[in-house]
Amino acid sequence: MSRHRNYRNLDFEEEYDSYDEVLGHSVDDSECGMSPGMEQYLYSRSKDAAHGFASYLPTGEDIKEEEEAVDETLHQPGSLDRSRHDSSTYEKPPLSTEDEVRLSSIMDELHNILGDKYSERELTQTIIANKFELEASLNALLHKGASAAAAAAVAQPFSNRAERDNVKGNDQTASAYVEQLSLSRNSDTNKSAPLQGKRTPASKAVGNLAATPVVVATPNKNGNTPRVVRGFDVLSNDGISKGAAAENNLSINEQESKRSRSNTPVRGWRDKDKDKEKDKLREKETPTVARTPAKIRDKAVDVEMCYKQQRGGEKDLLNLVVVGHVDAGKSTLMGHLLYLQGNVGQRMMHKYEQESKKIGKQSFMYAWVLDDTEEERSRGVTVDIAQRVFESDKKKITLLDAPGHKDFIPNMITGAARADVAILVVDATTDAFEAGFESGGQTREHALLIRSLGMTQLAVAVNKLDTVNWSQERFMEIKTSLRHFLKTVGFKDADVIYVPCSGLSGENLVKPSTIEALNSWYTGPTLLQAIDKMKVPERAVTRPVRMCISDLYKGQGSNMCVGGKLDTGYVQNGDRLLLLPPGEVVTVKGVQVENAEPSTAFAGDPVTLTISGVDPNVLHVGDFLCDPSEPIPLATRVQARIVLFNIKVPLIEGTQVDFHYQSLTEPAKIRKLVSQVHKTTGQIVKKRPRALVNNSAGLIEIQFTRPLCLELFRDYKELGRFMLRIRGATIAAGLVTQILN
Ligand code: GTP
Ligand code: MG
Repeated sequence: MSRHRNYRNLDFEEEYDSYDEVLGHSVDDSECGMSPGMEQYLYSRSKDAAHGFASYLPTGEDIKEEEEAVDETLHQPGSLDRSRHDSSTYEKPPLSTEDEVRLSSIMDELHNILGDKYSERELTQTIIANKFELEASLNALLHKGASAAAAAAVAQPFSNRAERDNVKGNDQTASAYVEQLSLSRNSDTNKSAPLQGKRTPASKAVGNLAATPVVVATPNKNGNTPRVVRGFDVLSNDGISKGAAAENNLSINEQESKRSRSNTPVRGWRDKDKDKEKDKLREKETPTVARTPAKIRDKAVDVEMCYKQQRGGEKDLLNLVVVGHVDAGKSTLMGHLLYLQGNVGQRMMHKYEQESKKIGKQSFMYAWVLDDTEEERSRGVTVDIAQRVFESDKKKITLLDAPGHKDFIPNMITGAARADVAILVVDATTDAFEAGFESGGQTREHALLIRSLGMTQLAVAVNKLDTVNWSQERFMEIKTSLRHFLKTVGFKDADVIYVPCSGLSGENLVKPSTIEALNSWYTGPTLLQAIDKMKVPERAVTRPVRMCISDLYKGQGSNMCVGGKLDTGYVQNGDRLLLLPPGEVVTVKGVQVENAEPSTAFAGDPVTLTISGVDPNVLHVGDFLCDPSEPIPLATRVQARIVLFNIKVPLIEGTQVDFHYQSLTEPAKIRKLVSQVHKTTGQIVKKRPRALVNNSAGLIEIQFTRPLCLELFRDYKELGRFMLRIRGATIAAGLVTQILN
């Protein structure tokens, strides 16, 4: 795609020689009678308002649209067109709100499994007839499909064996169908990408979970080693997987997701099968790590003393994430700031300028400082978090540039989970601020997310003010709207600072502006000064080690490198850490913290650890490294307090959600609505509510498909927070209040 675009933007007349070299030519160009340089074949935005394909034809005449032929297959059973037609004319019977919700959720599941094969009418009728039971509806539809195929087969004898087998294949139960699906998904995931490079999108890495080998045992505080995982839960082992699923009262979707991982190790479904024989057999087959708990280090270290000695005289460290709606100018703003700071050399900047000009994206030259992959540069969109370190007068700042596009919110959450404070960038251009701020825009969602992740300090960069002539009116208009909104989200006025600036022209980033139109009304801090003013949160250096892996890549030899923020504790070379959920004890071979003394890291540091003694196949983004004698708890079911926002359908029991926690995205189910609570006082308003609506708060139980490393909010504030998302939209923020299983 990007290559294609590059060629479109090339000046073909000039580049013709080298163009030949790159592409080679199998046809003699002179015989072609058409040069790629011919003006009329090149696309130009300015040339024609209507960019229809017809404008590229020499005659200039539009191609007439053909009359749509009436499709005969419309009346054949199972035809896609028929189902569409059927759906468009169908009117649903009146249902209660709760049934509506159930219907739409089951319909979605059926669409996921069966595709567009059945019309809305067929689906609705089947679901209602089967009392809103997913499995029963699926079975009914599949049987219906099979009988239709069989009837067709009677009318038309088989011409060959393959056809006959095909029809046979249709006659299967829902479970078999789902199993087949899970198998095919497995084969897809098993083809998963090799170990990612340094910038690992969390979503992708999480997707590789299926390739995990057998998992092991975790030593606990008492030195016992509770069994966490029981090896392979192979599909053919029907008795176990189906039985366990039924016991856990899982939906078919969950059973599927459970099975889809199960060719590879189940990292932790606690098998409730009482058959001890089978258990013993599996235990034998499951390799385990040392059952004696390892100690983090042999010699105790006075961590506080060490911290004072090593960091006492140094600048404070601040982790800063830059968020905001897509194209608000985040990367340009921070790229330009880094350049003005002297963090990016003049030569490099010149290179970016020339290269971006070549592909017609010169306005992104400063964004290229942070957008460093080819995809990001050619598309002009940040995809993954970029990290850079720079210094202000009083602070050493780790900058995390987040993507703004809603498709990449999981990556944004990963970055934001590593930050202490944030810059929210808004585009001051006429209508652009409003587009980002309206419901569904990322300005609101990002502000909500960072507040829910525990950040309380915020700098708002009112960017692109050059496009509105540095208008004070526009600045005030934006400030008023945002102030009101941010207050409702939970930011105190005193903790939010508004800075007018322009990332492209560099106005008011590092030095006060010299532009009369701006400095006639603005005398506040520059963006850099605003960052410098932010307070650094306390570092829990004496607490047990906790680090969520947000990045991993292969090191030298058999070593692996893992990156992330050290949430709590202290790590030095030679330390032994416990990797969870796999439960392996690893040895730290190297500690790298940018711009700090190597071989030690303290809480709050963005760090890269080189570790040995780990099987790369069991290592994943989202896993935790922790103190072996005080491991992070593993949970498959938790109780949590959530606040709901931005949901269209009320949340009911059984809803499937995406659980976002640190660098992890996991499928989960709302198992129980315990109570509805008051949003601010936390008092119970209603016990066992049937649904939780928008803007309400509640106590709920969440069920995962495997054990996850989670901390209680009251024990570790930074690690007890999570987000819930449904189909790409954030619907709730929550705090873990209890680990139930
Ligand atoms: P994502 O990361 O993809 O969400 O985008 P972003 O917020 O990082 O925006 P980016 O820096 O990629 O800039 C988007 C566009 O806005 C580019 O064409 C920039 O040149 C333009 N832009 C950024 N800042 C300014 C500014 O201050 N003034 C003007 N006029 N344009 C700007
Ligand atoms: Mg960007």
